Amino acid sequence: MKRFSCVVITGASSGIGAALSSLMARRTKHLVLIARRAEKLQSLAQDLRPFCKVTVLVADLSIPEQVAELCDKMDELHIEPTVLVNNAGFGLHGDFSQTDLVAEQQMINVNIHAVTTLTKWAVQSFKLNKVPGTVLNTASIGSYTPGPGMAVYFATKAFVLSFSEALHQELDKYGISVLALCPGYVKSEFHSIAGTNRAGIMNMLVKKSSHDMARTALWQIQNEIPVIVPGFINKLIVFVVRFLPRSRVRKLAEKFL
Ligand SMILES: NC(=O)c1ccc[n+]([C@@H]2O[C@H](COP(=O)([O-])OP(=O)(O)OC[C@H]3O[C@@H](n4cnc5c(N)ncnc54)[C@H](OP(=O)(O)O)[C@@H]3O)[C@@H](O)[C@H]2O)c1
Repeated sequence: MKRFSCVVITGASSGIGAALSSLMARRTKHLVLIARRAEKLQSLAQDLRPFCKVTVLVADLSIPEQVAELCDKMDELHIEPTVLVNNAGFGLHGDFSQTDLVAEQQMINVNIHAVTTLTKWAVQSFKLNKVPGTVLNTASIGSYTPGPGMAVYFATKAFVLSFSEALHQELDKYGISVLALCPGYVKSEFHSIAGTNRAGIMNMLVKKSSHDMARTALWQIQNEIPVIVPGFINKLIVFVVRFLPRSRVRKLAEKFL
């Protein structure tokens, strides 16, 4: 099993990010945990310190200035990543004519702006230090379809998948891998924050635990698999939508959400 020297994980305070941090602690010398909730990060860091050095950095990734400060801070601390996991993200459910624009702009900042900025920071560090590094971006099964009812969220995740695949190809010549993990329904705080309607067809989906998803993410990083859609039903959905007319895909996605 591969071991890493420094792994940076955003969204480490809960769900998939917290579970992946626990798994990574046993496989890296230095773990950098990033999110807004300092107490959650500190308590996780305390649990993981027997296994590796842990640095906690608190930042609100919806504020571009804080993302820039975070990159400066990591440079100041001489943090040279071998793996970056851009996992922080959130969604919002609702009719676009009524949803909160500020919240949507914050979502775009976390799901797109921070992912782009931190990926640039990591890739430049990999090149400078001649490290064949890896970036794992958490996309979604929603990266493959439009999302009526969660239009902005699905669009941000379409960006993440396209961005990751393009960079994976482009940066291969430097030995750098940029991977996209595309989960379906994962049990985490995500759904209460997004206000996802659980009474819909969504309720029929197989729900993976954050720990299961973290194990898949670790395996993906270890084996440098460019894109993973975890679970048979999710794979089937992604396969089938390729052959359906877009009008049908839009209608099905609306029913689903
Ligand atoms: N759960 C699902 O069904 C599902 C499906 C597909 C994709 N995903 C994606 O998987 C990723 C992880 O989600 P999860 O399911 O583990 O949800 P979660 O438990 O809600 O975790 C989200 C993480 O993102 C962090 N975060 C949110 N806004 C932030 C901000 N402004 N600044 C810094 N950190 C922020 C949160 O930390 P703080 O609140 O402490 O800042 C938290 O650690 C997300 O990108 C999500 O879009 C989830």
